[in-house]
Amino acid sequence: MRSQWSAAMISPADDFAGAPLLRTEFALAQGHGAVLNAELVVSSRGVFETYLNGRAAGPDVLSPGWSSYEWRLRYRTYDVKDLLRPTTVLGISLANGWSRGRLGWNGNRAFYGDRLAVIAQLEVTFADGHRQLVSTDETWRAGPSATLANDLYDGQTIDARLADDGWMHPGAAPPGWGGVEALEFDTNRLTPYIGPPVIRHEAVAPVNIWLSPSGRTLVDFGQNLVGWLRFTVQGEAGTEIIIRHGEVLEHGELGVRPLRSAQATDRFVLSGGADYFEPTKTYHGFRYAEITGWPSELTSSALEAVVVHSDLRRTGYFECSDPMLNQLHRNVTWGMRGNFLDVPTDCPQRDERLGWTGDLAVFAPSAAFLYDVGTFLRDWLRDLAAEQQAQDGVVPLVVPDVLKYETHRTSFPRPATVALWSDAAVWVPWALWQAYGDRTVLEDQYTSMTAHTRRVESLLSPTSLWDTGLQLGDWLDPQAPPGDPFKAKADSQVVATACFYRTARTVADTAELLGRADDAQHFGLVAGRVRAAFNKHYVQENGTVQSDCATVYTLAIVFGLLDELMTARAGDRLSALVKENGYRISTGYAGTPYVTDALTQTGHLDDAYRLLLERGCPSWLYPVTMGATTIWERWDSMLPDGTINPGQMTSFNHYALGAVADWIHRTIGGIAPLEAGYAKVLIAPRPGGGLTWATARLETVHGLVEVRWRVTGQDLTVETAVPAGVTGVIRLPGEPDRELPSGGHTITVPVTAG
Ligand code: BGC
Repeated sequence: MRSQWSAAMISPADDFAGAPLLRTEFALAQGHGAVLNAELVVSSRGVFETYLNGRAAGPDVLSPGWSSYEWRLRYRTYDVKDLLRPTTVLGISLANGWSRGRLGWNGNRAFYGDRLAVIAQLEVTFADGHRQLVSTDETWRAGPSATLANDLYDGQTIDARLADDGWMHPGAAPPGWGGVEALEFDTNRLTPYIGPPVIRHEAVAPVNIWLSPSGRTLVDFGQNLVGWLRFTVQGEAGTEIIIRHGEVLEHGELGVRPLRSAQATDRFVLSGGADYFEPTKTYHGFRYAEITGWPSELTSSALEAVVVHSDLRRTGYFECSDPMLNQLHRNVTWGMRGNFLDVPTDCPQRDERLGWTGDLAVFAPSAAFLYDVGTFLRDWLRDLAAEQQAQDGVVPLVVPDVLKYETHRTSFPRPATVALWSDAAVWVPWALWQAYGDRTVLEDQYTSMTAHTRRVESLLSPTSLWDTGLQLGDWLDPQAPPGDPFKAKADSQVVATACFYRTARTVADTAELLGRADDAQHFGLVAGRVRAAFNKHYVQENGTVQSDCATVYTLAIVFGLLDELMTARAGDRLSALVKENGYRISTGYAGTPYVTDALTQTGHLDDAYRLLLERGCPSWLYPVTMGATTIWERWDSMLPDGTINPGQMTSFNHYALGAVADWIHRTIGGIAPLEAGYAKVLIAPRPGGGLTWATARLETVHGLVEVRWRVTGQDLTVETAVPAGVTGVIRLPGEPDRELPSGGHTITVPVTAG
């Protein structure tokens, strides 16, 4: 971490429509030999892009991303040696971003202050040891850009008649430029990125362009994605192209109601020459674009969609003989990509896009298989801990927490500890430990994990149940009315107590692992007390769990709340409920991620497969039958008649319900960690559901683990690769466990065995 900052946080005296440009020009020091090193560090209030003589300092966009700015403002570091010239202009563009733009659904903005500002420091080291420092200070100049409006939710307006790249190159600042002011700023808040920046990933071409029933031009990119459009266009000066973005069509027109108040509209004014437009100061969640004002016939080669998200490395893959299931898995992956844009958000399109903790609490294991999310989530966990510390140990519903400001501005409830959501403090570090085997995540988060657990402990009733306070419970139970997602069948106190048991147990295990014997004992006792209370108050002798619905049995089984006999009974009851419901989903946010596991663990694998492969609504595959290319917030975000669900919360890109991918990877794909980080790996595919083959691959920290299985006639053949230094354990239906040394193996067993 940089401890020496000589630079000032500077802000333009004039705001220049929320998208100012800042520059300084400097000559490289002479007589000191070659440049050995040139390191540029930049951070800002608002989002920035940095240029040296017109060339971008790095591939990142929307930097410094979104963190809990009150305590952690991240800076990017660039090696700019190759971009230096005898005379160089260091130019920085700023925009509202998360700091000053709109956040949340109440129309509020500027949660972190109303000034845009930047701090930058370039240190050049020469062959003779001389150092030259170029820093933001009051000699910098600021001026207007061609961006006339920008907001992450609402979109960007660019007037190409105002575009002039001259500001990026040596020479006097263009006319109309003014001064800057140094703001009061505590550089202790600055912290390096530990995760990856947000970058452009790929470009997607339109698959169809046509006229809607009302005569509007619509473009389909074939995939619900997150980013923006870019294109070069020429037309009469002053012509305005307006682009609206939407995830779905309704009655043949762009369906924008799910965006709520987010405008998601970009406007481009033509200069008369060939104009290149790319609105990098906003982002949209969309599959379709509605374009008006295009000056000529619009063809599919004229524009492309740019996919934007954090620069994560893909590590996990799955494929099988069922194309619908493959599409579901692709939807999970795209849902994750769209929402891992610096912060793990609930959704990327409407006036929300917040880091809801509960969504990640359940999705973290799936995410950690699909991509290397280690540093990405560890960065987010630091924000979680910072917010928690500032709020008396309450882990908020969203991180970074802007809802805490809403309590002052609106009637939003005060921050409270909420089961499953606040449990992210424990479940997410544990998922990272399991996936990557790096115990420093547990060490780093230990204070946060234990503080959360102690806080819930203090909220327990004398009965040792968590039966007080606000709970979201089994949020979005499909049988709850669309306008009342709290109204789940599952008793929210049963859900809360079950979640807390899992939390206390996990923290006891963490303490044990880190050699904190006192804590291990304490949290082990707490867990034991809660488990006993759960059984005493919520479980009847015949095994009925209070509120007798799929979610409560699921949580009781998977979180280990019941003894062997009761677990078996709960499994049978769960299986009966799942059957009774025609294999349609009957669980909400708490139950859905674990219901297939609960069935599998209690000997009801066939039910798990039937549930997974069901196509009627609500089910995982119903959206696939409706052409979904991402995971939806509601099973029926799009109703069977093609109209959009009337509920207020109807996103078409919400990763939470994609958490079943974790079960798919472990149970169909057959790859599960037996020891953290897959130092020991369980190879245990469980064929079923009529699938004839499946493959799973995971790039673990030790190397590639691969499983391919196929059923031919009466034989199940499993081919697997175990990396060097890793022990595999193969568990196949009807066969005793066997250890596998590293290397490739092919094993055939009778398929009827299990
Ligand atoms: C979000 C969810 C979130 C929930 C909790 C919604 O608005 O989109 O994903 O977890 O609220 O209340």
